[in-house]
Amino acid sequence: MFLFTVLVLVTVIWTVQYRFRRRRMYELASRISHLKDELPFIGVAHKFMGNTEDVMKSLKKFSYEAMETDGVTRMWLNHILYFVMVNPEDLEIVLKTCLEKDDVHRFMRNVLGNGTVFAPVSIWRRRRKILIPAFSPKIVESFVEIFSEQSQHITHKVARVSGSGTVNLWPIVSAYSLDAACESTAGVKIYAQSETNSQFLAALEDGLNIISQRIFNVWLQLEWLFRLLPLYTKYQKHVKYVYDFTDEIIHNKRRQLKNNKQSQSDKGHYELDDFKRKSFLELLIQLSGGEKGYTDLELREEILTIIIAGTDTSAVGMAFTLMLLGKYPDIQQKVYEELKEVFGDSNRQLVKEDLPKLKYLERVVKESLRLFPPVPIIIRKVEKEMTLPSGVIIPSGSGIIVSIFGAHRDPKYWGPDAEHFDPDRFLPERFNLQHACSYMPFSNGPRNCVGYQYALKSIPTALTSILRNYKVVGEPEKGPIPNIRVKFDIMLKAAEGFYVKLEKRKPCLLKE
Ligand code: HEM
Repeated sequence: MFLFTVLVLVTVIWTVQYRFRRRRMYELASRISHLKDELPFIGVAHKFMGNTEDVMKSLKKFSYEAMETDGVTRMWLNHILYFVMVNPEDLEIVLKTCLEKDDVHRFMRNVLGNGTVFAPVSIWRRRRKILIPAFSPKIVESFVEIFSEQSQHITHKVARVSGSGTVNLWPIVSAYSLDAACESTAGVKIYAQSETNSQFLAALEDGLNIISQRIFNVWLQLEWLFRLLPLYTKYQKHVKYVYDFTDEIIHNKRRQLKNNKQSQSDKGHYELDDFKRKSFLELLIQLSGGEKGYTDLELREEILTIIIAGTDTSAVGMAFTLMLLGKYPDIQQKVYEELKEVFGDSNRQLVKEDLPKLKYLERVVKESLRLFPPVPIIIRKVEKEMTLPSGVIIPSGSGIIVSIFGAHRDPKYWGPDAEHFDPDRFLPERFNLQHACSYMPFSNGPRNCVGYQYALKSIPTALTSILRNYKVVGEPEKGPIPNIRVKFDIMLKAAEGFYVKLEKRKPCLLKE
């Protein structure tokens, strides 16, 4: 009895102290309108316990609620306070000021270490500085050749599956995206599109899937419990495969550079033209200072980060665009007519000069990224109390959920037809963005996506290859609002998979 009383007393004292230390946070939180679904102690944690479709439903609901309450709402996830935001003026400041990633990213950090996307700010600054010149427009343009060649394989892969009823686009677009990413990043061809079972692709996908399970399952977050499960053995196996694969590429490249007397690192300076058709790996070795630059571990972190950051995001962008075109045949017809204008009846491969001519396709991709942003939310940590332009005060120790999904659909900025699929809203004469953060599929501020130009070349190149040869047939939509159920699987994905029919066009421009 005595022990029990002591235990209760200690708990009460600890709780009072804990709440006293955090009194400012509670006070500021109480000033913000909050979600109706909150329960005592756990807040809205129960809303994130279902499957990944339920998680996305909750994120959508919270974003719409924020739209109705001056662009911000707040929620408790157990003891952690989060603000869900859609107001672009506030978001601009958040993305400029709060550069540290939220702790929820630690499971990705376990694999990617201090790779740029999830690195703590102190490490991120130097990494970003090295990364930026590697993603210069000239270098990215030089990769179009890779995208074009790899997209030839995509059409061959489609050729094998089309005509056999409904197909899931995901394995097709993700294999293309990984092939293109590996060749441009590491300078290696991995043939994910040709092999039926690419081990690298499988290890990457299964590994990410386990990480995604850990993010949303409180039990799997407990390290000691996770290590006891068979899932851990599987996870370790995938991580080891991916690490060994990357390390071998890095060692080979180092050896090759050492043997190469023309190596730029010997010259001590780097000119843009020297970088033509070099892989990111080679560029990062050189830009970080050659042999005295990045260590093998740092290189592995960066290379894997670029591959992971660039593969699924672009694949999701492609898959949603194709699904939308399947739903809206009139819009697809306009894309096809534009392709015929640029390519005629020839079966030549796309070259970089073609891309700027594909204006309508560009609008279609932009609109698809607006309605279905591959990264629907970003979570940043608040380290210092801050007052936002809307007047909201955000306490230190909380987190901000930047709802890109919500900002992209806010009628206050996009008008009453915000939910409509209307690529022509991006026509220069119609496009009148009131705020840069109303449209930010690639985020905004100092930590935005370095790969956006890469993605905006890789995605249309692959789409062109498919759409020149195939008609995408999906479930037709009755109105302008596309109905696609979505889930949050680290990225935004179609809940039931990206299923469409692909019908061969006549004349077929594909080289047989
Ligand atoms: C449609 C395709 C893509 C989308 C929607 C996308 C989206 C994003 C977003 C939203 C962020 C910022 C996250 C944040 O602010 O916390 C980001 C960061 C990043 N992305 Fe992308 N991305 C795409 C393609 C790519 C590609 C193709 C690459 C590389 C080849 C890439 C490399 C990166 C890197 C390295 C970062 C980290 C930047 C930093 O923290 O400084 N992304 N991306």
